[in-house]
Amino acid sequence: MSFYDDYIAKTPTSEKEARRAQAIIPGGVGSATDLAEEIQRRYPVIEMLRFTQSGVEATMYAVRLARAATKKYGVLKVEGAYHGANDILLVSAGVPSTVPAGPDWMPSSIVESEGIQPGTTEHTHVVQFNHIESLEYQLKKHEGEIACFILEPCMTNGGGYSS
Ligand SMILES: Cc1ncc(COP(=O)(O)O)c(C=O)c1O
Repeated sequence: MSFYDDYIAKTPTSEKEARRAQAIIPGGVGSATDLAEEIQRRYPVIEMLRFTQSGVEATMYAVRLARAATKKYGVLKVEGAYHGANDILLVSAGVPSTVPAGPDWMPSSIVESEGIQPGTTEHTHVVQFNHIESLEYQLKKHEGEIACFILEPCMTNGGGYSS
């Protein structure tokens, strides 16, 4: 149960695979290993890589791994950023109306769905995209508690941003 539809899912399989592969590597890829090697070639900083079936799993594992590695629970995310329908990150994923959203430098954490157990999003804190004071504020407020900052370089829900 995610918020988005995959338009590629509606096309025949061979075309779908071809488009997926070509979107990533011109000319296509052979196997998952080829793709992993290509990603690693382009981003040598990546030491280990794992594919998941969906984005929601990828972000769920990323947060869990960060929490396990750091022994901390705090998660910073950007207001308006969607990272899949997992409970921890389903906070301020849309753009809420102005009043509950809070000021730019300290956006409120707004839980996006009924059915999320109270406390699940307690450690999920929101910052404003491209707003350094907002990030500094949350880092200071939760000093020593942050496991990770999850960030989409190009936000799907954010529309356009001026730099
Ligand atoms: C940035 C981002 N992360 C994660 C997801 C979740 O992906 P999936 O729908 O494959 O679970 C989405 C879906 O749109 C997304 O845009």
